[in-house]
Amino acid sequence: MKRVVEPAELRQALALGRGRVAFVPTMGNLHQGHLALVRRARELAERVVVSIFVNPLQFDRKEDLEAYPRTLERDAELLEGEGVELLFAPTVEFIYPEGMERHTRVEVPVVSEGLCGASRPGHFTGVATIVCKLFNLVQPQIAVFGKKDYQQLLVVRKMVADLALPVEILGVETVREADGLAMSSRNNYLTTEERRRAPALYQALRAVAQAMIAGRRDYGELESEGRARLDAAGLQVDYFEIRRAEDLAPAGENDGRLVILAAAFLGKARLIDNLEVELR
Ligand code: PAJ
Repeated sequence: MKRVVEPAELRQALALGRGRVAFVPTMGNLHQGHLALVRRARELAERVVVSIFVNPLQFDRKEDLEAYPRTLERDAELLEGEGVELLFAPTVEFIYPEGMERHTRVEVPVVSEGLCGASRPGHFTGVATIVCKLFNLVQPQIAVFGKKDYQQLLVVRKMVADLALPVEILGVETVREADGLAMSSRNNYLTTEERRRAPALYQALRAVAQAMIAGRRDYGELESEGRARLDAAGLQVDYFEIRRAEDLAPAGENDGRLVILAAAFLGKARLIDNLEVELR
């Protein structure tokens, strides 16, 4: 695996090989969720490029950015083991040479609003901006994202459609721990006692999904019940909402493809998760 830091080195390395490129953008501190994306990318293309960049533009809190775990050497070893051809791990100076404030931004309206967009102002503009820039640097035919960050996946899909970017976006199922907790770098912030309670988030999503499959359509009431479950488990609810899977618009009685999305604070961690529900 070749490791590059500068955009110029990246261009050179890309020019050397041939075949389709599948790209997996990450912020590092890799776990099995990230590696599932890399494996999917390998199935889809001859060449896999992974980026590791903790993007300051998408962090709304300085403390969160500073605390974000950086484990580049270990990450590189994991990617080497997965047959990745190229790792692009730029510095902030190479991505934002004149500083973040002077950098062009990509704003994706509507789908960025609400849910995580409401509690993290500017977050999705930061995500869309860096993903757009990385696409232009790497020029992949395919890019792979996790459904774990469902709203992010839809923001990226909308940006690609609106700006006619020549890249196919693939969503991969959420990888979970044995007890259902979605894998996340932020799970590291949990104490042993908090870690024991964390699966309540997925359990609440499952309970509400089962009620929907059993025929309940009183979504407002179901959202309240979901919030109550998180409360009872000692999680501080940020949101618990039932939306249309396609575009995150409010769920209507006749919509078939829905998604339940939730976010909650547990100690220092803010956990997010979601579950797609297909109704007939
Ligand atoms: P990061 O949080 O490192 O996640 C990188 C990719 O891994 C995202 O597509 C995310 O959805 C996916 N992922 C994370 N946990 C997962 C899990 N448990 N199962 C499946 N996929 C999982 O998301 C970002 O970085 C950044 O916002 C980024 C897109 C790189 C832009 O900076």
